[in-house]
Amino acid sequence: MATHSEAAICRVHFNPGNIDVAVERGSSLLEAANQAGVGLIAVCGGAGTCGNCKVLLEEGVVETNRTIKLSDEDYNCGFRQACQSKVMSDLRVRVPVGFKLDNKNLTRKIAKTTEEILSGRALTTGWRFSPPLRKYFLKLPQPTLSDNISDLSRLLRSLRKEHNLSEITVDFDILKKLPEVLRDGDWQVTVTMLTISVDSKPAATRKQSKIVNIEPGDTSGKHYSLVFDIGTTTIKSQLLDLNHGLVVDEAVEYNSQITYGADIITRIVYCQKPGGLKILQQAVVKSINTIIHRLIVNSDIDKLLIGHISVAGNTAMTQILLGVDPKYIMMLPYTPTANYFPTIKANSIGIDVCDHVYLTTSPLVASYVGGDITAGVVAAGMHRTKKLTLYLDIGTNGQIVIGNSSWMVTAACSAGPAFEGGEIKHGIIASDGAIEECEIDLSNFEPEIRTVGGVKPMGICGSGLISIIAALMQSGIIGQNGHFNTEIKSDRVRQGDDGYEYVLARGVNTESGNDIVITEIDIDKLIRAKAAIYAGFRTLMNSVGFESKDIRRVIIAGAFGNYINIDKAIVIGLLPDIPRNRFKFIGNGSLTGARMAEFSTDITNAVGRVACLMTNVELSEDTNFMNNYMAALFLPHTNIDEFPTIDKKLMDQKAGKYGAN
Ligand code: FES
Repeated sequence: MATHSEAAICRVHFNPGNIDVAVERGSSLLEAANQAGVGLIAVCGGAGTCGNCKVLLEEGVVETNRTIKLSDEDYNCGFRQACQSKVMSDLRVRVPVGFKLDNKNLTRKIAKTTEEILSGRALTTGWRFSPPLRKYFLKLPQPTLSDNISDLSRLLRSLRKEHNLSEITVDFDILKKLPEVLRDGDWQVTVTMLTISVDSKPAATRKQSKIVNIEPGDTSGKHYSLVFDIGTTTIKSQLLDLNHGLVVDEAVEYNSQITYGADIITRIVYCQKPGGLKILQQAVVKSINTIIHRLIVNSDIDKLLIGHISVAGNTAMTQILLGVDPKYIMMLPYTPTANYFPTIKANSIGIDVCDHVYLTTSPLVASYVGGDITAGVVAAGMHRTKKLTLYLDIGTNGQIVIGNSSWMVTAACSAGPAFEGGEIKHGIIASDGAIEECEIDLSNFEPEIRTVGGVKPMGICGSGLISIIAALMQSGIIGQNGHFNTEIKSDRVRQGDDGYEYVLARGVNTESGNDIVITEIDIDKLIRAKAAIYAGFRTLMNSVGFESKDIRRVIIAGAFGNYINIDKAIVIGLLPDIPRNRFKFIGNGSLTGARMAEFSTDITNAVGRVACLMTNVELSEDTNFMNNYMAALFLPHTNIDEFPTIDKKLMDQKAGKYGAN
């Protein structure tokens, strides 16, 4: 092994995975991990503030800048923050479980989602099966001296006569190959047509049909497309059979951009570095191509048969995918480049599909309300109901829509990474070993926890945090201000490095052998996160003159939403205290909406109309939002009248029914 004074190039060996990478001496260990494709979850983008890039240095020398994110115990054991460490010699590095992107955890989740989607998770109704991408098999009359019109005129004449199709445009690439394809197919050909919006507004009624492919013979029996939900954390996709309206297969990958920062802002900031936009654009395309390859191999479908790609993503993800600098999204007055991007050739941005494949993106509303929301709102059927509906997509960025078929207001608020386990002392992503549920025995304050996968606990995920804090509050271990009740007689409550903490799992029972705790600082972070979401909802409700009780339906969307315990989310004041039967989970609304838009031009049009219908409210500049936010920094809320059922529970608690000593 080279010493750090010797080599200009150092070899870094990562485990698990047995991956080697060569980097220049002095390079950041995080960059080395990125280069190796290790997939460290760099929540703060390398600023040193999240502690999620922690790795165990087994051998070699690094120069490290130690931050408060590394405890004495971890430091002495050999842990280092990769983003704060420079590679100074050959290294052997171990990435702890839960700090690394692991696709098998995602596979488990999407399996559940698929099952739910296929069992009718989409809530919208009243649409026809009419895919915007269609194939037409044509038998053309051969040219003769008395009928020697051009090849293109012959083709268009047949489309008009046999399928009543007119106002058709043709790609120049199609024209170039048209004569040979017609003759190779002995005047029997399959034409693929894509219906797209002509104007700059997706809701425009002027649609145009474009010939995007022509093949000899009859290939109309096999007709596929791909839909993608491009999330900040994960990318989910489905391969669709457009002849039968079926999901053939689906796949999920972490968005490779996550190694450059976990949230939208750190990604936009990264784009401002020299070459940063290109790096992130290529990172997301790499994940997309991995998915496409897997879907094609698993389903044994020829790549040639994929005819279209439809993408729904938030505004920043959409712009980065298209290679459009998202800089102005985060700068006052927060403007996206466009609400509607034209359909483009998918391979022009590096997506590994054939040349005839176009890519369409779901329309955007504002800087932080994107195509994932327009697609999701339509999948939820919000555009077809008179009932006052709240649509909530909770993640690092909470997106909120209120309205019905006649009007919609929308807003986004930054909740921070707490809901995804980020910046929490023992926070991890929702993978095997993550504590996802917690109850506390009122007689002795002992916890009963449940982990993802039922294995030994390794950390706490977002849904676990909600459950834990609700249980701590209901047992009286913490007060409504989130502070520990130090009079509780239990050795589970103790002073730790970061102040008071509660021991959820003792070292003898955990995977790492160390205690897993929740600290007062963690609780404060979750309170801030839930306050941002609730304040966003309250501010929007105020802006249209409604109260929580007026809401008839609450649609919870997003991967995280799937795992929220509604009762507990109400206990901590994340969700409004209304009858529980008004809550509905839609799962991945974005992917569902994108899929439905591939199956029906009715839905494509509806998504466009919804984008035009939505009025965005900018919360960051709204004083009402700040007031509502301050009021929500309490469990469940400073105005307990907004949470009548929780008020009653707390009264019972005070009367001695909870929190026994
Ligand atoms: S602390 Fe290293 S990426 Fe956040």
